[in-house]
Amino acid sequence: YPKLFIFDLDGVITDTAEYHYLAWKQLAQSLGVTIDRQFNEKLKGISRMDSLEKILALKPELLTMSMEEKQQLATQKNEYYKTLINQITPKDILPGIEKLLKEIQENKIKIALGSASKNAPVVIDRLGLTNYFDYMVDAAKVKRGKPDPETFTVAADYFGFAYADCIGVEDSAAGIEAINRAGMFSVGIGDSEHLHEADYLVSDTSQLNMDKIIEKFASK
Ligand code: G6P
Ligand code: MG
Repeated sequence: YPKLFIFDLDGVITDTAEYHYLAWKQLAQSLGVTIDRQFNEKLKGISRMDSLEKILALKPELLTMSMEEKQQLATQKNEYYKTLINQITPKDILPGIEKLLKEIQENKIKIALGSASKNAPVVIDRLGLTNYFDYMVDAAKVKRGKPDPETFTVAADYFGFAYADCIGVEDSAAGIEAINRAGMFSVGIGDSEHLHEADYLVSDTSQLNMDKIIEKFASK
């Protein structure tokens, strides 16, 4: 029986993955770079600065930019993003998520948030979900972001649980890789083109069911 569920936030609990994309697209535009959804898959789960580096790499002349200029651009993107998340309400919780959180909590399994986003606590608060989380990983304190397993192991270590007793839920390829490398059971939300390494894959959050996930976890 699992002891801990670790949830990614953006694209799992609410559709802020879309807002990150729109904010990056706007920033890229101002640099004369165009990004599309296919490229955006590579940005999912990746820290703010790592995402910026990937965008700058699309136009070689931008790579010479100073650290200070990069910081400015990252801040600019975050300003765009903050405008978008200001509109979030509990109506923006993705289908099936609150029911799942409730069931996990009723079954006395711990719940953690494992997001790379420094905006995560604000978003969870706006959604009205703060009380479901027994622990939230502080993105600012994680040294190695996804696909490194650190985000997930930090959550398990907080409780002192074995990694094999933990389940991670993710919508990004980097996140699924992080969960697998941690030795945890990975649940992917999305398509097999990007998330084929997930131990268990569902197409969208409405397909998430606690008993089904635990059944798959137990048979691994
Ligand atoms: C998550 C999202 C990424 C985002 C990162 C940092 O991993 O999937 O798209 O870039 O968090 O978010 P932040 O809010 O700190 O810029
Ligand atoms: Mg995500």
